[in-house]
Amino acid sequence: MDEGGDLPAAGCRIQTWAAHAAHWNRLGPPLRPCREDLDRMVRAWTDSLPAGIPSRRVDVLSLGVTPEFAAFRWAPETSITAIDSSGDMIRAVWPGEGPHRRAVQGDWLQTPFADESFDLAVCDAGLTQLAAEHQVKALGRELRRVLRPDGRVVMRHFAGAEDDERIEDLVASAETGGVGSFHELKLRLLFAMAHRDPGRCVRLGDAWTTFERLFPDRPRLASRLGCAPEIVGTIDAYRDRDAHYAFPPLREVAQAFESFDLQLGPRGDYPLAERCPVFSLTPRP
Ligand SMILES: C[S@@+](CC[C@H](N)C(=O)[O-])C[C@H]1O[C@@H](n2cnc3c(N)ncnc32)[C@H](O)[C@@H]1O
Repeated sequence: MDEGGDLPAAGCRIQTWAAHAAHWNRLGPPLRPCREDLDRMVRAWTDSLPAGIPSRRVDVLSLGVTPEFAAFRWAPETSITAIDSSGDMIRAVWPGEGPHRRAVQGDWLQTPFADESFDLAVCDAGLTQLAAEHQVKALGRELRRVLRPDGRVVMRHFAGAEDDERIEDLVASAETGGVGSFHELKLRLLFAMAHRDPGRCVRLGDAWTTFERLFPDRPRLASRLGCAPEIVGTIDAYRDRDAHYAFPPLREVAQAFESFDLQLGPRGDYPLAERCPVFSLTPRP
């Protein structure tokens, strides 16, 4: 595992994840995958495999150092390799090296792995980091290269919608008990702001400024949402950040992964799950 700092990942408009790494344990679903998401992802994967899970060790590639993926039993025998451009995230979040577990610092769009190395590539909401369609296309080409012929990609995605709520409605909702958690509020704010942008992007620094304007009384918000003030404080990771999050609708994602067939996985049950679809990508012949 590389102990260096952050790489300027070609496809990543976020040059440092240090701020996120520092408060990772305070983030929760839907920003992080829950057990239901892992089950949905396995279902999407197995549903896409006519011959079922290979009866040998399954080699999994994780785009990002999502610790829930490292701890999860994807198949009876699994090895997992994570790739992440952020040395801070690797050190803060990944559960370390094991006989069948490793993390590599690198760019998803140009990985150091040999052709046909993996059976399954998994990613939790990583497409938010690839703001331009050509970056998603480049990711598709790289995944195609490193996947075995019967390999699959399974992702959870934060999907843009045709019709999103207005920011004022979100504030009213937070006042009247219509928001389940601070993490949900944060994601709904990002969705609502990105919806107003032609590129479906939101600059994180702008999300922080808008949050400050809409919710100046943080202790009151924390008590309304029934969370600790430190949870609300996780918004400060966005302060002054030039990085952008993108929320392409599923239809655009399907188009960008041009050499794969996209199949929607099972729906989730938690608040906002309809905006967090899981899907599989099967390489086209
Ligand atoms: C997987 S995404 C989203 C976080 C996710 N919701 C989770 O729970 O893991 C976050 C990670 O992607 C990494 N990342 C973003 N773009 C990247 C790229 N082009 N190459 C490598 N890592 C990248 C960031 O450094 C960060 O650690």
